[in-house]
Amino acid sequence: MTIQRIGVMTSGGDAPGMNPAVRAVVRMASSLGLEVMGVERGFQGLMESAFKRLTVRDIGGLLSRGGTILQSARSEEFKTITGQRKAIHNLNAAAIDGLVIIGGNGTHQGAYELSRHGFPIVTIPSTIDNDLCFTDMTLGVDTALNTVLDAIDKIRDTASSLKRAFLIETMGRDSGYLALMSGIAGGAEVIVIPEAPMTLAQILEGIQAQYTLGKPHSIIVVAEGHRPSTQEIYEYLHAREQELGFTVRMTILGHIQRGGRPTAYERLLATRLAVAAVQNLHAGNYGVMVGLVGNKTQLTDLAQVATCHKKVDLDLYAMANMLEFGRAKTIPTPLPTPTASRRANFGEMRPKTTKEELPPEAF
Ligand code: F6P
Repeated sequence: MTIQRIGVMTSGGDAPGMNPAVRAVVRMASSLGLEVMGVERGFQGLMESAFKRLTVRDIGGLLSRGGTILQSARSEEFKTITGQRKAIHNLNAAAIDGLVIIGGNGTHQGAYELSRHGFPIVTIPSTIDNDLCFTDMTLGVDTALNTVLDAIDKIRDTASSLKRAFLIETMGRDSGYLALMSGIAGGAEVIVIPEAPMTLAQILEGIQAQYTLGKPHSIIVVAEGHRPSTQEIYEYLHAREQELGFTVRMTILGHIQRGGRPTAYERLLATRLAVAAVQNLHAGNYGVMVGLVGNKTQLTDLAQVATCHKKVDLDLYAMANMLEFGRAKTIPTPLPTPTASRRANFGEMRPKTTKEELPPEAF
């Protein structure tokens, strides 16, 4: 099948990097002589034929813009077979031969369904949660991390000035990635993630251990998906301020993590993934996601991506605890023991991998 006209759409939660990816899709397609149709509002737009022609003149200024000019949506109707058939019908009617879909976990389930109907699809992973398998990074993560770090640095100023313990909640419904990485990079005293849940008493103990070390503040980064929730942790600690030695405050960062100017890393990643997506679609390699593994773009079948949920690296969690509690008498959480294979990768470059070589447990 010859691909002459492709569609590009963004779906699910917006993420910085989506616009630079749309830009690179249009530019790459144009240099291959392909026409591009933008699909507005994700799967919803597919079902409503919300298509518009995109040329290189329509994509100026996108490298530095957050959000998505194509807009996005979360669609329930598309989960039904009727919704999917409507989408295929509309794509065929608009003479669109293939589609680049940019989005996160939910989006990949939808993209897999569409590709099972035989429609040529290549996807680009994009979510600030970084919880898609078969890619080291997803679009949006680097910018979101920098936003969280900026907040941690600023909040620490107040925390130290007033001897406070601050709970800072990051996004991540099912993933502790943003909390863990920002906690490490921001020097948080305690990191609380759903993949290694802590009890209220353990969190209290962690803060007390830091107080005993003479710290003038305590920063506790909590992932949105942790249970007990940030609010419950706050209420528990607030009622025990005397015992703690710190007064307690809470900041929920919320959607400021999803917006903003894409970082340099983000723009480069978006451009590389988008170029590879268009090249592969054009070459007839579809039904795949383009990820970044070991700093190389890599294709993985959508069937594998759609059925996998990436967990945070617990070795990094153990490392963070080691750094914070190495001097303390007590360590509030059991430190996960690195497995032999993980230990081999601790602090080393990941070996170069190919699609065939990747064992599922590598993620
Ligand atoms: O999946 C990205 C994400 O930002 C999650 O971290 C968060 O839980 C969720 O989306 C929020 O979704 P919404 O913007 O629809 O409230």
